[in-house]
Amino acid sequence: MAREILLNAFSNFGVASYAPGLWRHPEDKSANCTDISYWVELAEILERGGIDSLFLSDVLAAPNLEGREAGLRSGVGVPAGDPFTVIPAMAAVTDNLGFVVTGNVGYEHPFLFARRMSTLDHLTNGRIGWNIVTSSAFFTEDKGVAGELGSADRYQHADEYAEVCYRLWEGSWADDAVVRDHESGVHTRTDRIFDIDHASPHYQLHCLHQCAPSPQRTPVLFQAGVSAEGRGFASRHAEAILTGSLPRELVAMHVASVRQQAAEFGRDPRAVKCFAAVLIITAASDELAQEKYQDYIRYADAEGGRFFASTVMALDLTQFDWDMPVAELRDKVERPIEWFIREKLDGSPWTIRDLAITASVGLGAETIIGSPSTVADELQSWVDATDLDGFNLIAVTTPGTYADIVEHVIPELRRRGVYKQDYTPGTYRNKLTGRGDRLPVEHPAALYRVG
Ligand SMILES: Cc1cc2nc3c(=O)[nH]c(=O)nc-3n(C[C@H](O)[C@H](O)[C@H](O)COP(=O)(O)O)c2cc1C
Repeated sequence: MAREILLNAFSNFGVASYAPGLWRHPEDKSANCTDISYWVELAEILERGGIDSLFLSDVLAAPNLEGREAGLRSGVGVPAGDPFTVIPAMAAVTDNLGFVVTGNVGYEHPFLFARRMSTLDHLTNGRIGWNIVTSSAFFTEDKGVAGELGSADRYQHADEYAEVCYRLWEGSWADDAVVRDHESGVHTRTDRIFDIDHASPHYQLHCLHQCAPSPQRTPVLFQAGVSAEGRGFASRHAEAILTGSLPRELVAMHVASVRQQAAEFGRDPRAVKCFAAVLIITAASDELAQEKYQDYIRYADAEGGRFFASTVMALDLTQFDWDMPVAELRDKVERPIEWFIREKLDGSPWTIRDLAITASVGLGAETIIGSPSTVADELQSWVDATDLDGFNLIAVTTPGTYADIVEHVIPELRRRGVYKQDYTPGTYRNKLTGRGDRLPVEHPAALYRVG
């Protein structure tokens, strides 16, 4: 039987950040992202379609780059709000949607972070995930620990940070610590709660976790590093990984390498769920979907897209002519991490303008344009070719892109038997893995458990 496909909506607390200029499109409401009703509507649409989670990305600094005015003018990256804050409002109107929030280990003390995540896990009834990020080098400003670390040390520090969190989440309160005994007046058994003891280069803690155990304790762990160190970290810790926007062969290699390394750490390789980013533009027919794409292109902000491409390449593209072939930049680019740029450096006829427009509609992620059956064919063929578990859905318009997917693509996937008819009961971890609310014993966090 064909494998069930998992789907996350990939968004952030910003103004069409992944589609410069598209905030002006009638289907897009992201310019109102500071209005709580924007989030409530989005969550309701996603849950109606049985989408597994809303993945909230977050970059904690304005890009530090010459020429950034054009990006700021079109709302790319800034303004941005704090994604943690909108989760309870969405949890209140949904029962099953998961919420994966990006938590950067470089800026905040893990004690505070762990408390906030436990609180959210309680308030959502166990529907929280953590996207562990160490920061992209060119986004890191001189703030917090992130400013002090070179790239080689970032993952060592992330290990330290995760260990502190695991100790707080798993090792401070026993399962039977909270008794709430009305007769005796005992709320918490003091013999069942424990100070954690932790000493490492950046953190020394001797304290209790402030929150009583939440349904999942440790949130579902996501990670999206692309370097060898990043993959190593993911293999030890992550329950889900995101690959960058890469061609099929490279996605397949990335997935195989993380699964193999996870097995070497004694973990079940299939316990690491793998997702790739994809932009789906869909309508009732292939022709209507193509028309939709052309309509989006009309709203694309080439300056905003050029700025986004500049940040990825760590090169100010405003200094070059719009009609200059991208291939001429080959020797100037030090870090073209996004594949759609890397491949254009290799003698393609693309100009900087072409690159900018593509970056404005889906940031160069794999783009599928077509009817529900075209889209379903393509998603299934990706899964077959790469061993992916599912996709992170990029949006051109929010909530427009998701409303289209829910209306057109989900029924088709369900008809083919490759998408759940209904949510699995229980926590987000149980829905994702079918193996209960807590991390399995072979995960490193389980080392710190108290009985
Ligand atoms: C699909 C994807 C999504 C990411 N989302 C974020 C994010 O929301 N915030 C952030 O600071 N970094 C994000 N990153 C960056 C990575 O988490 C990681 O910090 C970065 O790629 C540098 O690590 P590396 O050297 O292992 O690649 C993302 C990366 C990928 C591939």
